[in-house]
This record gives sequence, structure tokens and C-alpha cells, in this order.
Amino acid sequence: MTKYERQQALRLGVNIDHVATLRNARGGALPDPVRAAMAAQGAGADGITAHLREDRRHIRDADIEAILKAIEIPLNFEMAATDEMQEIALRHRPHAACIVPERREERTTEGGLEVAADQNRLADFIGPLGEAGCRVSLFIAPDPAQVEAAYRIGAPVIELHTGAYCDFDADGDSVSRDAEFTRLQEAAIQADDLGLEVHMGHGLTYRNVAPIAALPQVKELNIGHFLIGEAVFVGLPAAMAEMRRLMEEARSQ
Ligand code: PXP
Repeated sequence: MTKYERQQALRLGVNIDHVATLRNARGGALPDPVRAAMAAQGAGADGITAHLREDRRHIRDADIEAILKAIEIPLNFEMAATDEMQEIALRHRPHAACIVPERREERTTEGGLEVAADQNRLADFIGPLGEAGCRVSLFIAPDPAQVEAAYRIGAPVIELHTGAYCDFDADGDSVSRDAEFTRLQEAAIQADDLGLEVHMGHGLTYRNVAPIAALPQVKELNIGHFLIGEAVFVGLPAAMAEMRRLMEEARSQ
């Protein structure tokens, strides 16, 4: 790969949580998230993302073990900053650990991590993960104070929360969407200038992915709910292929 191609490259991480959501709706073992991870790998995913929530509402401990055994591409392990999750991450040593905020009452990860107000605890929390070889990322809102705090505590990667941008787009509120996009763009530039690797994710669809994928600072998108939903109609490889096409088209312009 040439230097130009490396700068251009935008990885696609496929989040398979909602295959487990569907499985758990019935109990039993089907559909199998490991099969989804293998299908995503076979269709060219750059990584698999899975969130082991405190309440185990979708992915379970045994899924993480089975996915790690099955896949050859990196696992991005999403986790809350709790002792229990740290112990699990240190046991499995996934390629990446993405620290997310977690509240039991939320339907999905609604806000970003509060890094600025919790710096000392988070610095202590991510230290052992980094030492164990996990690439730590912090899932944060596109807020300059959070980007700065992520840098200060030594996180190598941030993932910027695109949920608000995607929600405004879905609501048809283009003024708020554009303002939120500008926040994402400015946070990406700030982080890149500080030497942080920038990822983005949450709520991305065919319709809203292009402006995000076009940002040259962004190195990875993590996409789950939409791809798994679309896979019901067209299959996961076809859904991923269309997402990849849109990402690459946006990137090349
Ligand atoms: N990135 C992070 C940190 C997330 O928590 C999630 C949702 O689990 C995603 C990306 C994927 O979001 P979505 O399922 O809406 O594509």
C-alpha cells in the first residue's frame, strides 16, 4: 500500500451486537453472533466490534470467548469503565478496547464518555489495558474539552459519537445536522493535530455515511444496527458491500 493509499484507507468495523439481541429475544442459540462475525470477516470487514454490556442484554461472556477463537481479524471490545470489564479485557487481551459510558436504562449508548470530569480515574483505568497491548479508544462526544482530556490521559484513539448528527438527519433537521457535523469535523481535526487516531460511529446508515467517510482524519467507522437490519433483506455481505462502496466513493472525492 502506498503512503497515499494509507492516508486514504478507511476501515470498516462491523458491530454484531444486534445479532445477539435477536437471539436473546427468543432464548436459545440462534441467530449465532459468531456466525455473523465470520460472515462479516468473510465479506471483508476490517474488524469486529462487540459490546459486552453490564446487563448482558445482547453479547454475553461466552460470545466474546467464541468470537475471539473464531475470527482472524481484530476484535474491538466495547466496555464500560468498571472493574469487572477491566478484568475480562485483561483476560482476553482483545486487539482494541473501546471505553463507553453505560447506563442500564438507556436503549443504546446515548452520550459520550465524560473524560474531562473523570480524568484521574480513567487514566488509571486505561493504563493496564494499554500495557496489556490493547489499543484503547474513548467513545466521546465531539466536544473540544473531551478531546483534550482524552489526549491528556494518554488514550491513543478516540471514537467520536455520531449519534446526534444521525438523529438530526433522520428528523430532517438539516440546520442542527450541519451544526453537529461541523462539531464532528472540528473535533476530528483537533484530535488529529494532537496525534490521536480518530474513529467514528453510532447511527450510521447508507444515507448519512458519506460526509463522515469523507473526513480525511477518520481512520475507522464502526457500524452495527443499520448493517444488521439491512442484512435481513439483502444479506450481510451485500449490506457491507454497499456501505463500503459509499465510504470509498466519499473518500475518493
Ligand atoms: N461505536 C460505539 C462506541 C457504539 O457504542 C456503537 C453502538 O453499540 C456503535 C459504534 C455502533 O452503532 P450502531 O449500532 O448505531 O451502528
